[in-house]
Amino acid sequence: MSKILVIGSAGQIGSELTLLLREMYGGSNVVAGIRKTKPSDKLSETGPCEVVDALDTDGLASVVNKYKIDTIINMAAILSATGEKNPMLAWDVNMNGLINVLEIAREHRMKQVLVPSSIAVFGPSTPVDNTPQETVLKPTTMYGVTKVAGELLGDYYVKRYGLDVRGLRYPGIISHETLPGGGTTDYAVAIYYEAVKNNRYTCFVKEDTRLPMMYMPDCLKATIDLMQADFSKLRHHCDFNVGAMSFSAEELAASVKKQMPGFEISYEPDSRQDIADSWPNSVDDSAAREEWGWQPEYDLDAMTADMLRAIKEKHDKGLI
Ligand code: SER
Repeated sequence: MSKILVIGSAGQIGSELTLLLREMYGGSNVVAGIRKTKPSDKLSETGPCEVVDALDTDGLASVVNKYKIDTIINMAAILSATGEKNPMLAWDVNMNGLINVLEIAREHRMKQVLVPSSIAVFGPSTPVDNTPQETVLKPTTMYGVTKVAGELLGDYYVKRYGLDVRGLRYPGIISHETLPGGGTTDYAVAIYYEAVKNNRYTCFVKEDTRLPMMYMPDCLKATIDLMQADFSKLRHHCDFNVGAMSFSAEELAASVKKQMPGFEISYEPDSRQDIADSWPNSVDDSAAREEWGWQPEYDLDAMTADMLRAIKEKHDKGLI
């Protein structure tokens, strides 16, 4: 039985992933690592929660020893938009946090480490449509720079130390449990909340901005499927492209309008437009499909129906 530590358990992906892993492996086997926010009731009621800052090596080591952790999922990161406001913070958290995780995993001969990457590894000189698995990696954001270096570092630990490190290049992740924070793809979540609350949304990227996106159930499935894949069958390790859907801001708005005909959208691009313009429209994920059977389930309209249902429910209960 694995003893898993999820660092960044209060975040958009970490919060849902921690709960799912607890259902799969038992609450006491999955430690929620939270840096400063108070854990949600769901997290604190279903298993152990500890203060974990990946930059604090002693604190990290004491949690690893206390729970005999053999698997770490490092979801802590400064995302693209916040990273451009504070590049040194992004470097510090994304790189120094990661090397601390990899080092402690190496020292403890852990079973597995999951280090997420992102479509932010790509840049303006990368082919934009159906972006290949192997291609130009010249990002123009600090977030992207740290994600490229993180992929290389993870692959280095696989080759140099035989550590089982895996990771995928998440597209924009859309969900209704925990809000994303500081990313460029956050408009694709905000649109649903604003539609339900105000029946209108002012979008911070242009209508023709097209990016790869994924609904949370597919994100969780991709993460778990990769973690469970047979290591000996993997030819890639820390850099899998994973696609699910690709749509423009205008197509996203049209999907909302199908269900809420009175919904209105306007566009006021800000500095995040440049970041979005440097990323692909869609990715070729055939390596993930071949090596570990990746197969997404949700398309845009199925996701919209589910997002609006869940957010209306929260709104009716006065939670948002
Ligand atoms: N969602 C992230 C961001 O927008 C991309 O990985 O920064």
